[in-house]
Amino acid sequence: MAQTWTPNSWRQKPIQQVPDYPDLAALETVEARLAKYPPLVFAGEARRLKSALANVAEGRGFLLQGGDCAESFAEHGADTIRDFFRAFLQMAVVLTFGAQQPVVKVGRIAGQFAKPRSSSVEKQGDVTLPSYRGDIINGIEFTEEARLPNPERQIMAYRQSAATLNLLRAFAMGGYANLENVHQWMLGFVKDSPQAERYRKLADRISETMDFMKAIGITSENHPSLRETDFFTSHEALLLGYEQALTRVDSTSGDWYATSGHMIWIGDRTRQPDHAHVEYCRGIKNPIGLKCGPSMTADGLLELIDILNPANEAGRLTLICRFGHDKVAEHLPRLIRAVEREGKKVVWSCDPMHGNTITLNNYKTRPFERILSEVESFFQIHRAEGTHPGGIHIEMTGNDVTECTGGARALSGDDLADRYHTHCDPRLNADQALELAFLLAERMKGGRDEKKMVVNG
Ligand code: PEP
Ligand code: CO
Repeated sequence: MAQTWTPNSWRQKPIQQVPDYPDLAALETVEARLAKYPPLVFAGEARRLKSALANVAEGRGFLLQGGDCAESFAEHGADTIRDFFRAFLQMAVVLTFGAQQPVVKVGRIAGQFAKPRSSSVEKQGDVTLPSYRGDIINGIEFTEEARLPNPERQIMAYRQSAATLNLLRAFAMGGYANLENVHQWMLGFVKDSPQAERYRKLADRISETMDFMKAIGITSENHPSLRETDFFTSHEALLLGYEQALTRVDSTSGDWYATSGHMIWIGDRTRQPDHAHVEYCRGIKNPIGLKCGPSMTADGLLELIDILNPANEAGRLTLICRFGHDKVAEHLPRLIRAVEREGKKVVWSCDPMHGNTITLNNYKTRPFERILSEVESFFQIHRAEGTHPGGIHIEMTGNDVTECTGGARALSGDDLADRYHTHCDPRLNADQALELAFLLAERMKGGRDEKKMVVNG
């Protein structure tokens, strides 16, 4: 029998990855303040995302989830948000064209601050300090002062999330996402890249279609879906005190929702079924993501599915698979078969980033070809198993960074030092993200053609 859930029942469970706050009274004060602040997102929005994801689980849509590994206070600014949003929109439009299906857009943004770490300390020379755990917890500078967890940072993260969300809502609903602007979403530095020509051609086709529709009376004035888009936010629900403070009862349904973001996920390091993170997530009604790495067993996955989605509701649970390009063929089929055998409804999404990190010239990086290779395998395996490759989860930015090697511009290990800005893991730049979207679109088109052949043949 499952025990009673409350927003703080996670506090009775063992927990991984908790920061060591020096002043617990100060932490409590901050949590009490946050508990009075307005929700960042609304239950009705989370429900809308859940029903969009239910369509994906049933094979009628594709999930695009992406953004920073870790948002930072330093990079917070209108230009960064706008550049991210338009790179993301470009990817979405390419994928919509490829899949000929709705693309559900979910950013890793407006709350993606807390990071799990493989070691609780970092050593440089003779000095050992607490590891950086994300701007919501401590500072990245390697000094004792910066690395001390400071609860006031939670207030700053909340305010940054609110401001980011405000701009994103304006972009999504206020005309920026209007399909008539499809040419304008091209970023300065992507304009002269090999992806630009492909994108321009696609944008021309969309504009032509829009002109045709206008001629028959369908315009963005009378059809909001042409000028607005649904854009949702997500982050890893790692810092549970913060999450609890923003957990609210929805007055319409009486259910509990996390209001820190529309979708939250459980990381690969904190998914122990009897621990705190799973306990927190099981009680809220938002759509939930679950990272699945190589150590996930089929039985372990089924146990987690039963805890997190006991009613087997489509759209509630997204499995974000992150095995690595050389391990996906070993691990994905066994998980798919277990889930299929038990008739569990999930969205299968591919995170081709976290299993493909290497160190080169002292930089953490990810070779673009390994990212592509994991995505390719993910698609092939789903086609072979007869299941729906439902989405992709990536770390990306709209800025012209040099963090992942490869891609059409063939960034090398020597280029990494140029513009390596991430606060945590290496991200695809807008150029590489768009290249990935084109490749995916081709795969989806291939899948459609195959299906047609089966139907016609
Ligand atoms: C992440 O998504 O940034 C992350 C830490 O992922 P994982 O839990 O899969 O390692
Ligand atoms: Co990451």
